[in-house]
Amino acid sequence: MSMRDAVRIAVEAGDDEQKVRIHDDEGEVEVGDATFRFSVTSSGSDKTEYEDRYQAETESDDGDSLKDDDPRRIAAVDEVPTDGTLRCEAIDGRRGTEFILWREETTVFAWRNSCPHKPEVPLDPGGGAIVTDEHVVCHEHGARFKRGDGVCTSGPCQGKVLDEIEVDVRDGTVYLMDDRFEAGYQLTGSY
Ligand code: FES
Repeated sequence: MSMRDAVRIAVEAGDDEQKVRIHDDEGEVEVGDATFRFSVTSSGSDKTEYEDRYQAETESDDGDSLKDDDPRRIAAVDEVPTDGTLRCEAIDGRRGTEFILWREETTVFAWRNSCPHKPEVPLDPGGGAIVTDEHVVCHEHGARFKRGDGVCTSGPCQGKVLDEIEVDVRDGTVYLMDDRFEAGYQLTGSY
């Protein structure tokens, strides 16, 4: 039970009856000379259902509890291209942050979909970023970012680093594991 749900309590003492709705997990109701004290122990003070589920899942060491309907599930690993990128969105509350996935065999890299030279320019404008064997290349002015550490090795923002997004591959599935976000999914279409 989430304590966002009100609980209705009816207390009878002799001829007196008192009905209350409570939104807290403990308190008291006075009826005549009697005082009824209550305390509700439940799974979750003021947490949402999602927060309860997220906590249960992240408390697992081996991640076995990650499920197909996990809000952090992004894609099957073989959906992530090796010759381009997959555009995705990570959610923090109501804010969405675009990021891209790029794969080398079973290793998946993820960065914010934003060029450090001009943050408003997406590396992947839809349909995939330009990639070479070792680099993601910004389509705007040609900055090249090394696979692995995301450092710009040439171009107008040389030395700057792409903002890495933490993901993990488990059982052939890519999950968003970055603490800054609570959910993620693939985007479709272009700008
Ligand atoms: S906007 Fe990416 S290199 Fe200039």
